Amino acid sequence: IDPALDLFQEIDRLKKEKNAVILAHYYQEPDIQDIADYIGDSLGLSQEAAKTDADIIVFAGVHFMAETAKILSPEKKVLLPDLKAGCSLSDSCPPKLFAKFKEKYPDHLVITYVNCTAELKALSDIVCTSSNAVQIVESLPKDQKIIFGPDRNLGAWVAKKTGRDLVLWNGACMVHEIFSQQRILKLKARHPEAKFIAHPECEEVVLQMADYIGSTTGLLKYTINDPANEFIVATESGIIHQMEKANPGKVFIPAPPNNACACNDCPHMKRNTLEKLYLCLKNGLPEVTVPMDIIVKAKKPIERMLDISA
Ligand code: 13P
Ligand code: SF4
Repeated sequence: IDPALDLFQEIDRLKKEKNAVILAHYYQEPDIQDIADYIGDSLGLSQEAAKTDADIIVFAGVHFMAETAKILSPEKKVLLPDLKAGCSLSDSCPPKLFAKFKEKYPDHLVITYVNCTAELKALSDIVCTSSNAVQIVESLPKDQKIIFGPDRNLGAWVAKKTGRDLVLWNGACMVHEIFSQQRILKLKARHPEAKFIAHPECEEVVLQMADYIGSTTGLLKYTINDPANEFIVATESGIIHQMEKANPGKVFIPAPPNNACACNDCPHMKRNTLEKLYLCLKNGLPEVTVPMDIIVKAKKPIERMLDISA
């Protein structure tokens, strides 16, 4: 790429020329968030993917998110700036093993968190995201037996909130499991006025300390509506860009990980860069595809979720 090229201008031009829309998750780098047509959490992004009339969806996020967009709009071309942008949580639940697990509970209904492969969604009854997981579980009769996967932390939090006994798959996200209870306690002591906010993919010991728990959109809204001036944020650090934009003057401190050398960046989300986004829009690839039989099976549980969340 010519270093003199204004990538913002070029992306904007190509977008109009090709009738493309850029959907970006809050964990993307700030430049990508700033050029996106829509930024959101997993639920917002799938709702947007379902209703767009663009010919091309450029998904600035990870593979399972682009797959969800493809399942909802199979006639559209879905591009992912880096095809290797995966997800440790999705990887923690191989569909073949999950199918065997499911066989042990034949009278259970399967709810899967959207952070999983299209194949896993095809094995599910309802999909959920972190912003509607409680609502989805509560929409089912109280005596309905439920398997929840792949995130054990989100599952345990939903079980606690709803009072339901969920059978959990033992999966987790590498970013949200890294926070240190001890270091957060020390940070809270140094910032007694700060609100501590956390994503439900965090471990229970971390969630227990939180003033608010929610999806990325929920966390962002909380920082806007709460009068506090300081927030300690236990989720991927990309969201802080939007928090700072929406709240001039407020201070956002990333929650400390258990290893001083680690950071709160998701290595999968951060594989996408503005340069790769430009190239994928220019070249029309890499494209995310899903076999038609999987699309047909995976679409039902996603649409069930969208109907409940409407
Ligand atoms: P939400 O944005 O839906 O809260 O999801 C967080 C996440 O981990 C996405 O990978
Ligand atoms: Fe997956 Fe965690 Fe990265 Fe989200 S933050 S994409 S759940 S590894």
